Amino acid sequence: DEMKREEVVEHLKQTVRPEEGVIPAFLLGDPTVYKLEHEKVFMKTWVFLGHESEVPNNGDYLTRDLAGYSVIIARANDGVLRSFYNMCTHRGMKLCRADKGNKSQFTCPYHGFNFKNTGELIGVPLQKNIYGGQLDFDKLALHEVTIDTYKGLIFGTWNDNPEPLKEFLGDFTWYLDMVVGRAEMEVLGPPQKFVVHSHWKIGADNFVSDSYHTMVTHGSIVQLGMVPNATYSKKGYQVHTKNGHGGNIGMPNPDFAFLEELIPEYKKNLSPEQFDVMSNVKNIIGTIFPNLSCLVSHTSVKGQLISNTTLRLWKPIAHDKMEVITWFLVEKDAPEEWKKRSRESYILTFSPSGIFEQDDTEVFTDITATATGVVPYAKNFNYNYTMGMHRTPVTDFPGPGVVYDDKFSEAGSRNYYRYWLDMMGR
Ligand code: FES
Ligand code: FE
Repeated sequence: DEMKREEVVEHLKQTVRPEEGVIPAFLLGDPTVYKLEHEKVFMKTWVFLGHESEVPNNGDYLTRDLAGYSVIIARANDGVLRSFYNMCTHRGMKLCRADKGNKSQFTCPYHGFNFKNTGELIGVPLQKNIYGGQLDFDKLALHEVTIDTYKGLIFGTWNDNPEPLKEFLGDFTWYLDMVVGRAEMEVLGPPQKFVVHSHWKIGADNFVSDSYHTMVTHGSIVQLGMVPNATYSKKGYQVHTKNGHGGNIGMPNPDFAFLEELIPEYKKNLSPEQFDVMSNVKNIIGTIFPNLSCLVSHTSVKGQLISNTTLRLWKPIAHDKMEVITWFLVEKDAPEEWKKRSRESYILTFSPSGIFEQDDTEVFTDITATATGVVPYAKNFNYNYTMGMHRTPVTDFPGPGVVYDDKFSEAGSRNYYRYWLDMMGR
């Protein structure tokens, strides 16, 4: 198997050619590539876990998945957020089996070892008697997991020596700030989760650069008048930054789709340039490498333009299956009526029952099917990612990164796969 893996890495280096716009189909359908990318990408990089507003109070906790391993994220009485491998240090039972809750201690369901939400072991049933008082409690503390936050986003990593989170996000923070840092944001409701028979990279790739599909894939939504103000246009900008991050910014927008009454807060949290851009956006769509995407879109609800903000994780389950987890975010200080309508517009568009979501996942599933099996690999079937290669980046956009004044381009995907290949080859 080791042989096969080395062979695959070598094969990747020869066949994945982002600079030429050549991406082989087997990247989306090959189980060995999938296994390798777990080891070389997901075990090394920062992975999104959740939002701080999901654990606002002392004692709050979540269990989440970090590259296939369950971790607990807990806010202890000192207000500090910590993360632990969700494994009892006695004999490995999964310590916490709930998704979410509030408690200061976790008691193992197997033999009852009791841990504080700071990770310390504080109680062992009958310990004086059965261990003769010799048990080393310090050595049995929960295994801490590295986490860090940026503007409320919680990321974790198994890498012992990671690039600091802020550096990892790099220049893409300029864009991310408009999505999650423009005001104090909160997650409303638990995240929604659904399983799609799709390879995970298709979602990440779709959000990193693909606005081109909207006219066709989502054409019926406009024809049916379901989203009255929906117009699909190439107008706007495409940006990518280091480490594979990137996205599209639809501009201009004659209307301001955020909250007029929060303008002072937006201005406080953003630079004047960021605020100017945000005031003019129709939508912001992006991917933070490897599998977190974000989206700000607008819909007209009862004649009023309302923005909605979501985060989504394309969580790998198998080479041909992923769980999509979506979070709905809204300004914490927004009026209740706005929150309700904004959430409605998210449910209508991007959620398990959302009309855009249904269109997209149908396509993702079929792409996965055509990529799977020996034929795409053996026959060297490639995708064409050459769109926009004739263009030169603009220099007059206020935000950082490589920026094109056209959303219809595959530059962002080429950048994404360039970094992916770099990680796979390490
Ligand atoms: Fe947890 Fe034994 S495995 S107490
Ligand atoms: Fe779509």
